[in-house]
Amino acid sequence: MALIFEKPSTRTRLSFEMGVYELGGHPVVLRPGEMQLSRGESARDTALVLSRQVAAVGMRTGPDSLLAELAEHAQIPVFNMLTALHHPCQALADLMTVREAFGTLTGLRLAYVGDGTNVARSLGILGTLAGMDVAIASPPGYSLEDDLSLPPGAEGSLTLYHDPREAASGAHALYTDVWVSMGDEAGAKAGGEAGGEAGAQERRAALAPYRIDDALLDAAAPDAIALHCLPAHPGEEITAEVLYGPRQRIWDQAENRRHVQKALLEFLLAA
Ligand code: CP
Repeated sequence: MALIFEKPSTRTRLSFEMGVYELGGHPVVLRPGEMQLSRGESARDTALVLSRQVAAVGMRTGPDSLLAELAEHAQIPVFNMLTALHHPCQALADLMTVREAFGTLTGLRLAYVGDGTNVARSLGILGTLAGMDVAIASPPGYSLEDDLSLPPGAEGSLTLYHDPREAASGAHALYTDVWVSMGDEAGAKAGGEAGGEAGAQERRAALAPYRIDDALLDAAAPDAIALHCLPAHPGEEITAEVLYGPRQRIWDQAENRRHVQKALLEFLLAA
């Protein structure tokens, strides 16, 4: 199994590498600068060669177009380990964690509060496909696109809010992600937001009301759980009290990456 990481990772690398090992496979981890792709070899030629050597390939990269090009030319399954727009393997682990907590997904409300990231987008797509009502609250300028196309068969709903308490109201799971994503550390963001430290400060100020704390959890359902894809910045998007407290399932969620990804690999390779 080839696992191409063009960006840093702790959970995705550990869970895929150990998961492939547990399935009896051999993970080949390829990091930035280790492939001829970084020296200009095309995605097409890379896909053709990978198809002759491994059973499947996972890629973590920036541009979704690169992953799409690899998948177009590969003769083996290609899966997304995070791109600028999507983080589907994370969402699979998130749904598994909610189902572990409540025994079902259908009809449950999942509220995501914070920046409209790739994590939020994948939750919107996969959550609605699983029959959940997904509520996403973001400050103006940080929202997910309001015309996100949901997959055929999606029976849940996707609703965008600005008010985090409105989104959290009645939610079974309350979810957040970092305020400054990989690649945004310099504060740069599409749409003209100021760059550098000033941009990062502007972002933190806009997102501050969306922090998951005990008060926001109290606005959710009485048995609501807190989720976070990690890495976390305690005191920013989530308080340390929630991150390490009794209402979180965040560390189970991190473990579940391995379990659900093993199921994904079995599904892909059996197809
Ligand atoms: N949540 C997640 O993808 O973690 P890593 O970036 O550490 O892989």
